[in-house]
Amino acid sequence: MTKKIRKAVFPVAGLGTRFLPATKAVPKEMLTVVDRPVIQHVVDEARAAGIEHFIFVTGRNKHVIEDHFDMQYELDHTLSQRGKKREQEILASILPKAGTASFTRQQAPLGLGHAVWCARDIVGDEPFALLLPDMLHKGETPCLKEMIEAHAAHGGNHIAVAPVPEEETHQYGIVGVKDRAAKVSEITMMVEKPKQGTAPSNLHITGRYILQPSIFALLATQEKGAGNEIQLTDAMVTLAKSEKFHAVRFDGEIYDTGSKLGFLTANMAYALSDSSLKDAFRAEAKKLLG
Ligand code: G1P
Repeated sequence: MTKKIRKAVFPVAGLGTRFLPATKAVPKEMLTVVDRPVIQHVVDEARAAGIEHFIFVTGRNKHVIEDHFDMQYELDHTLSQRGKKREQEILASILPKAGTASFTRQQAPLGLGHAVWCARDIVGDEPFALLLPDMLHKGETPCLKEMIEAHAAHGGNHIAVAPVPEEETHQYGIVGVKDRAAKVSEITMMVEKPKQGTAPSNLHITGRYILQPSIFALLATQEKGAGNEIQLTDAMVTLAKSEKFHAVRFDGEIYDTGSKLGFLTANMAYALSDSSLKDAFRAEAKKLLG
């Protein structure tokens, strides 16, 4: 029997330099896609996949993320006095149950591998999910739910993957798989940001993982890699020598909200699937596009 995935880690310490000046005082994870911050879309995905405990690896200037997932008494009181039930319900629906959200700080920007390692004590000795908040995964079934199902069937470690154009492979972690046509396939190799023309395939790591806790001991001694940062992918390559890794192909849409184009496209896509907004938004978009 595989252990249940109860905890999810959200590394939210990144500086958001691709989005300055918007991210000077506002964390990039708090920029909104339609009516909720990016981080909430990702927490919603985790919740829909059955996650019970939410672990945020934050940094300086990120306290509004903590506030977003806390009770706001004055606001709740005012809404209640004004009879705004619907708005109160919206706020209640995003509030994690008492004791099910944890926050720890990454004290220096040493890379994704280091950020994940910062969560080791809160995760403890159990497999966990990892969701990179920049990457919104929009599909019929939440990406993490598919991965949790794959983990229940196969155990071990799981990475969500999707194809990217050849010329973009150097921007991502790339995996090679045994069976390219399968939804879930064993991973044969992984490489972080391969030089152009050297990628083992065009399947990129999309930012959703299920990892065994044995990754933490490897991260503790992981040397710096691509971009002079402690890379999660490098530690996974070592772990893959002793444990199984599966790729779970995500067939929905992925938006990199850390880039201006990805962020704007995500807003359009989510607006077009919001029943209260889509018709009016489509009409406005048509006017703009001519
Ligand atoms: C990180 C991972 C990379 C993955 C990417 C997805 O890179 O290291 O393997 O493909 O996220 O967004 P970063 O975007 O932090 O450079």
